Amino acid sequence: MNKKSFLLFDRSTQFNKGLRVIAVGMALLCIAAVSAQLATPPSQPEPSTGLYKKSLVSFKSHGVAAANPLAVEAGFAMLKRGGSAVDAAIATQLVLGLVEPQSSGIGGGAFALVHEGKTKKLRAYDGRETAPGAATPSRFIGSDGLPMKFHDAAVSGRSVGTPGTVALLAAMHKKHGKLPWNALFAPAIALAEQGFPVSPRLHDVVKLDRFLKDDPAARAYFFNEKGEAWPVGYALKNPAYAKTLRAIAANGPKAFYEGELADAMVNAVRDYADVAKRGDLTQTDLANYQVIERDPICFSYRLKKLCSMPAPSSGGVAIAQMLAAVERFPLSQWGANSIDSVHVLAEAGRLAYADRAQYLADPDFIDVPKGLLDPGYMKSRGTLIDMAKSMKRAEPGTPPGVKVARAPDANAFLTGTSHISIVDKFGNAVSMTTTIEDIFGARKMVRGFLLNNELTDFSMRFEENGKPVANRVQAGKRPRSTMAPTIVYDAKGNPEIVTGSPGGSAIANYVLKTLVGMIDWKLDPQAAIDLPNFGSRNGPTELEKGTALEALKAPLEARGHTVSVADFTSGLQALQRSFDAKGKAVGWRGGADPRREGIVIGE
Ligand code: GLY
Repeated sequence: MNKKSFLLFDRSTQFNKGLRVIAVGMALLCIAAVSAQLATPPSQPEPSTGLYKKSLVSFKSHGVAAANPLAVEAGFAMLKRGGSAVDAAIATQLVLGLVEPQSSGIGGGAFALVHEGKTKKLRAYDGRETAPGAATPSRFIGSDGLPMKFHDAAVSGRSVGTPGTVALLAAMHKKHGKLPWNALFAPAIALAEQGFPVSPRLHDVVKLDRFLKDDPAARAYFFNEKGEAWPVGYALKNPAYAKTLRAIAANGPKAFYEGELADAMVNAVRDYADVAKRGDLTQTDLANYQVIERDPICFSYRLKKLCSMPAPSSGGVAIAQMLAAVERFPLSQWGANSIDSVHVLAEAGRLAYADRAQYLADPDFIDVPKGLLDPGYMKSRGTLIDMAKSMKRAEPGTPPGVKVARAPDANAFLTGTSHISIVDKFGNAVSMTTTIEDIFGARKMVRGFLLNNELTDFSMRFEENGKPVANRVQAGKRPRSTMAPTIVYDAKGNPEIVTGSPGGSAIANYVLKTLVGMIDWKLDPQAAIDLPNFGSRNGPTELEKGTALEALKAPLEARGHTVSVADFTSGLQALQRSFDAKGKAVGWRGGADPRREGIVIGE
């Protein structure tokens, strides 16, 4: 474990004891809750709010890991009732949208990998937000002709994309659900109507956000009459969210994408005194929203098969490229937190993020080169890593099949999100990463939920030196993501690791660290998640503040790295199959990120 002092978070008190006990646990946490600063660099839109002690959880057949205990309990209750992993994911997501509204919800989008135990088939569902039909490439160019400042664009109706999460949940349920659709809404509706205890993290981020109060609906919900954030443990009710959920539970996704709720979203994105902030989402955009089933990307590393999310996410490609680049190095011999391991993984990050900026975007609009995943190409990129010296900044490569000259996306590194990992007793697994983009999204609340600002995941610039940026805004296009829900397979084709993380463009580095931790360093999932975060996004080499890695700053600088030490608020969840001495699968073990409030429950 790293040097940070951990707050006591007694997960056992939360098992099966209901809301009352959780409220007490949350209130106790208040005593030690750590203040955070929103004056963090743009790479950390979800601020650190301290660390929570987590222990490895072992279980036999089914379990849920997510970012909030109430959401995990809701998902686990569905598994206990004979529901599938997808049923559990839906119940978990609906509660997350209530208790962790800063990170995800029905006003946003998500990607999910679903492994079907019966057929051993893996499906990748794309529920990413889309740009409205009226969107043009200059959407985020200001009146001065320059790219807008991030929050000028994000905290506005212009950043709101057509939400995809409700359609995604419905599509997954249609294919993989066992329990009735409306039953999955019951925990979230009950918590919204009866009240849920405000968690320390929710309290901190409400208190610290600069923009949330400017929206009248958000102000009325998140703050008391004096304009103060509700205290930790306060039973916060959200009757508007309950009403919204009741409508979707009764009438399906149509109740969200058409009619009264759709009208409310369309009106909300236009509801700004400042004309420049008005959005253009229409009823037609909402009614036309489609979930896309895509081919997952699968690759091998150390003889294991790994699968992750394809474009429009860049996360899976980046992880594949980074692992291929470092496979020739003896990471297991070097070990975690060693200078050599950090050096080569950071260099691999530089190479992968250079390609990400140049080539990754919505594949329905842009020809994303298949050659990015060509094993020969990926290995050749790895040969650029020099043990003695950092390359400092990598240039994009030329993968086989590149047809068009493009300019890189120079966007700042932003976003915040949540992750859910679930396995059920039928052999199914779900790895789902879900987002409203920046913390509290566009800071626009409608009918009890927050609208996303996902369109700021597009490049603000649309061309450079006459060359188009792949990730430029276009009508109907999905913004590039870094979300990387990932499943690692065992030799029999069964899921062995189910993992993912929030954290904006750093997601690929967080997931990479966790995979290398489990595969190379043979750590259990909790220990792998606990490892200090580090990596490079083709800028400085980033080391997590307050951890053992700070000792590597000077040695890395001696190898030519520019080093940045900062908070890196990942939100990893990982479930890993356990095997006996003969290699027989005997159950699961799981870990949740100490940097957030998540837990694992299984049996
Ligand atoms: N907005 C987070 C991501 O898609 O990467």
